[in-house]
Amino acid sequence: MSEALLAPPVDAAVAKVVRDGLCRADKQLPPWLLYDDEGSRLFERITTLPSYYLTRAERAILAREAGAILDAVGADVAEVVELGAGTATKSQLLLEALVARRGHARFVPVDVSAAPVELAIARLARELPGVTVAPLFQQHAPALASLAMDPTRRALLFLGSSIGNLDEAEAAALLAGVSACLAGGALVLGTDLRKSPEVLVPAYDDPEGVSAAFNLNVLYRINRELGGRFEPAAFRHVAEWNEVGSRMDMYLESLREQVVPIAALGVTVRLRRGERIHTESSRKYGIADVDALLRAAGMVRTHTWTDHAGRFAVHVGRVSPE
Ligand code: AVJ
Repeated sequence: MSEALLAPPVDAAVAKVVRDGLCRADKQLPPWLLYDDEGSRLFERITTLPSYYLTRAERAILAREAGAILDAVGADVAEVVELGAGTATKSQLLLEALVARRGHARFVPVDVSAAPVELAIARLARELPGVTVAPLFQQHAPALASLAMDPTRRALLFLGSSIGNLDEAEAAALLAGVSACLAGGALVLGTDLRKSPEVLVPAYDDPEGVSAAFNLNVLYRINRELGGRFEPAAFRHVAEWNEVGSRMDMYLESLREQVVPIAALGVTVRLRRGERIHTESSRKYGIADVDALLRAAGMVRTHTWTDHAGRFAVHVGRVSPE
């Protein structure tokens, strides 16, 4: 039997971004590539780290303000959609408030990784049986496009400051897709706020090494899915504050000169010692930045709540009346 029959099927989108990203001078991989099942598990661990304050701060806001957020959104929405739902523990707080008021709710988790969503579905069935779940295992853009064809008034959650992974043009495109599918409902957006690099850097480079493992997993993924020959031990995780861009920038830095074949692509990647692969950026916002983002997508911010330490914010936005 030939080797090709035994190899896992190659995902065309994964193959394309790896080829485009690594066969160029300034090497880069898109952040969504970090989230295969293993990457999603590692990210869930990051959210429990003492230095990664984002998830705790956002959860505290949602727990404290669930009722006020529902009032701002309109508790009569027909469904709650969550982009990048993962295990949906934060959205569950809003679903609980909705079920408490109405007895039922429809939840549409959108995620490219099925495993965490399956966990969420099992947990919701146990803990919140009033919720009907209809998952979409897709990238955000195609999911938004199909939702836009069905004019159901919805609350669309985009939590965790995941929008901060996108550059300006990508964020504008995504929010345009969001505004096109709200059908009179509202966006609930979580954004990390600008703060000292002394707080930010440890959040993305923790002493436990989980952030490093999360970043390095992308190399294991390329090995698993594309027959790559990366040696993750020959790279180090770098997390730097970029003041001008108001963001954390994450890289994998080659510890030596190396040559890495990727069988399924038929290419060989060459790296110099010290050369970096940009894997992710995480933008940090001021309120004016959020207003500008929403405005560019034809939306307006109507509400904002922050945690007690002022580290993180949850906003409600709607399509602006013209
Ligand atoms: C899921 C994009 C919000 O930027 O804080 C955490 C991802 N990367 N640690 C973030 C992440 C490294 C996270 N987001």
